[in-house]
Amino acid sequence: MIRLTLASPTQTRKLARVLAAQLRPPALVTVEGELGTGKTTLVRGILRARGVRGTVASPSFTLAQSYHGRDGERLHHLDLYRLSRGRDADLFAWDDYLGPGAITFVEWPAAGSDALPPPDLRIELRHRTRTSRTARLSADAALEAAVAAAAEDVGLVVTGRDPSAEGDRDPAATGEAP
Ligand SMILES: Nc1ncnc2c1ncn2[C@@H]1O[C@H](COP(=O)(O)OP(=O)(O)OP(=O)(O)O)[C@@H](O)[C@H]1O
Ligand SMILES: [Mg+2]
Repeated sequence: MIRLTLASPTQTRKLARVLAAQLRPPALVTVEGELGTGKTTLVRGILRARGVRGTVASPSFTLAQSYHGRDGERLHHLDLYRLSRGRDADLFAWDDYLGPGAITFVEWPAAGSDALPPPDLRIELRHRTRTSRTARLSADAALEAAVAAAAEDVGLVVTGRDPSAEGDRDPAATGEAP
């Protein structure tokens, strides 16, 4: 697990560019976090960095939006907030959104947890102050190390790296807005 502070939406977009450069298909990326923590901001930034032009609408109502990246990869952006576990999730065409040439991003992945394979990258965003967020990223050791190094290179602050700190608490998370 690596933990970063994202002090502004600009820093969230910086992390997006870092992740866009590290991800290769096939990949499943889950993005968890409360309302307004920047999940869509992050995914939209990754899609842009992979060459998606034009409108990148949030899939909150459509459940899924698909794009082509600049290397010919398929990019799928799912938001399962409105999908219920059980029958709804059983009827969902998961296979259309996973494949050897695809990178798939899933906001609110809980409803899909019975159907989806384990993610290659798990991202958890939390509110820190009004405009800053904490990001926790879990992936295999090589990807975590590459992301941490690339994030530091672009000036992001990596505040923690600990393979066993999955459930730890961020003391700054209780801070008031400045
Ligand atoms: N550090 C930050 N990173 C990302 N967004 C931030 C940050 N600080 C403030 N924001 C603002 O928070 C909002 C985040 O909205 P966004 O739609 O990306 O969140 P979300 O997690 O996808 O929400 P939802 O659960 O409703 O889909 C945006 O208006 C953005 O400008
Ligand atoms: Mg969203």
